[in-house]
Amino acid sequence: MIDFDIAKTWHKLFAEHLELIAHGAIEEELTEASVCDDRACKLGKWLDGPAHAMSNLPSYTELRRHHRHFHQSACDLLRIARDASHAGARTIATANFRAASTKVIEAIDQLIADHDALGSGHGADVPHEEPGAKPHDAWNDTMSTGVAAIDDHHKAIVTILDKLATASDLPVMSELANDALTDLGRILQLHFAVEETYLKKCGMPEQELAEHLREHYKILEQYADINFQAMTQGQMRIKDISATVKGWAIDHVIAYDLAIKNYLPLGTSASVI
Ligand SMILES: [Fe+2]
Ligand SMILES: [Fe+2]
Repeated sequence: MIDFDIAKTWHKLFAEHLELIAHGAIEEELTEASVCDDRACKLGKWLDGPAHAMSNLPSYTELRRHHRHFHQSACDLLRIARDASHAGARTIATANFRAASTKVIEAIDQLIADHDALGSGHGADVPHEEPGAKPHDAWNDTMSTGVAAIDDHHKAIVTILDKLATASDLPVMSELANDALTDLGRILQLHFAVEETYLKKCGMPEQELAEHLREHYKILEQYADINFQAMTQGQMRIKDISATVKGWAIDHVIAYDLAIKNYLPLGTSASVI
């Protein structure tokens, strides 16, 4: 399962993560096939899959076009950034890449608007909500770290978890649930990778940084455990898993991520990249 919120969050995280890798801030090898092919990423598969039902909308075609262009510029960035002797070309490739990424986000927003105008409602491929169910513990500004990209991730993750938490009793053994949990796990991984890049450069003392990173690792381990239990025992519901994960996420933001505020640069906005 992938809906608009997941598609947008996925794309933003994919782009930030890729830029950090291209500039050597995250050590991870990316294959050209996974970067250059606009049908290989999650958003590409979503466009070929559930979103194809909207292919009669001009905004769908536009999104495809911008998404293809984004992958071309991602491909260029990766090739150029690997060659350290071309600092100027790297700056241009980075600017092109960021502009192409913004166009994709704008195109997703346009597709959402067109889709909503047809009366289908935002996120129509998500299982129906239970009557009376509503998101709890909504995001509020006291949970803001002051780093816009990190705050955006947190808000997006809470939105996705709220959506899953209000879904009906979707059996966890279903393909839909399996896809949702896999997507969420990857989103958490990418968020931590991007946040950790910032933590390592913000001036946080070594011990505090090590503890923070350990907590990320712990959450990913707990997430793998809960998924394993869900798949082997088959009694859990996806909404229970998402409520549990939301509890971990909010607790982590309050206990660890808010400390980022102590290391914000003075007089300038903090940026992860
Ligand atoms: Fe964190
Ligand atoms: Fe975080």
